[in-house]
Amino acid sequence: MKLSIAVLAGDGIGPEVTNQAIKVLKAVALEFDHTFLFNEAAVGATAIDMFNNPLPDETLKLCKASDAILFGAIGDPKYDNDPSAKVRPEQGLLKLRKELGLYANIRPVKAYETLLSKSPLKKQIIQGTDISIYRELTGGIYFGEKKLSEDGNTASDLCEYSRFEIERIAHLAFKAAQTRKKKVTLVDKANVLETSRLWRKVVTEVAENYKDVGLDFLFVDNAAMQMILNPKQFDVILTENLFGDVISDEASVIGGSIGLLASASVGDKYAMFEPIHGSYPQATGKGIANPIAAILSAAMLLEHFKLYEEAELIKEGVEKSLKLHITTPDLNSKFDTITTTKVGDFIADFISNPKDSNLNFSNIHLGQSTII
Ligand code: IPM
Ligand code: MG
Repeated sequence: MKLSIAVLAGDGIGPEVTNQAIKVLKAVALEFDHTFLFNEAAVGATAIDMFNNPLPDETLKLCKASDAILFGAIGDPKYDNDPSAKVRPEQGLLKLRKELGLYANIRPVKAYETLLSKSPLKKQIIQGTDISIYRELTGGIYFGEKKLSEDGNTASDLCEYSRFEIERIAHLAFKAAQTRKKKVTLVDKANVLETSRLWRKVVTEVAENYKDVGLDFLFVDNAAMQMILNPKQFDVILTENLFGDVISDEASVIGGSIGLLASASVGDKYAMFEPIHGSYPQATGKGIANPIAAILSAAMLLEHFKLYEEAELIKEGVEKSLKLHITTPDLNSKFDTITTTKVGDFIADFISNPKDSNLNFSNIHLGQSTII
């Protein structure tokens, strides 16, 4: 298969982790005889520095001309600490989602058997957890009208949803549930919010088309509690933009590190793949950022194009790296010398030599790997 992939590495650790995902995709291309073409473009704080625009036209044009987008991370503390900044890196990501119509953000959450002890949650609570979060991504309070009064003392953000916006992601969530444990949980705040009541009504109607899938409802405050009390009760979680943002960061605790969670943002025409973690500026350039979320996002990219065998191999490589403790310090108390690049090297090598990467492991561990 021939795919052109736009690479928007972005800020902070974005470039380091994205490089590992590219390395792994190149190994897949070689092994399976695909052609993946990578084209880089600027986004976020990096793009503001260069073009005073977090999403330059050139970048958007490249994304629209590509088959898929690999995204790194966005954000810079110099904007976080300046509420009056008019131009912000995050605007680049939000505009990208909106312009490309990426209305469904899919975030898988899994408790890896080898990492059960890394989570602050008890092993018996998280063991066996396997959740797919369907977060609406182009509507709600993120995109509603924003106001700040003249005197700067009153502000508002409008939360608005239409039936159409709810229906299209609901269909995706139910279809996903049909291939899983056949359960959708709608997370909302229908006891307070009008938008949530519309979600309940529309999702209940959509459910009529999927008789084999069960539907239940949880208020978001309760859902936040249930997520760490009994995460195994969930299969597919369907929710609006802001609740999905919060719930998915919380859910990452189950896996043991936010550095493990990948995501796919899809629309009717375009698809983008990105780790859910942020730009982690404190770690930039230190080689300690976990590249697994970026690598698993590359696996989701392959799945999107139905390259299931290839994606499966990447996931096996990730599992093996975890099993052998070839992991960055966020997951590794044993060896603190395993860098972002080494994890990428190991997984890329696994793709090329799935049988004998145990041998290479000792070299990598000693820092003598010749794999590039
Ligand atoms: C995410 C991020 C973004 C969001 C930020 C960077 C705008 O937190 O993808 O979860 O809030 O959607
Ligand atoms: Mg977030």
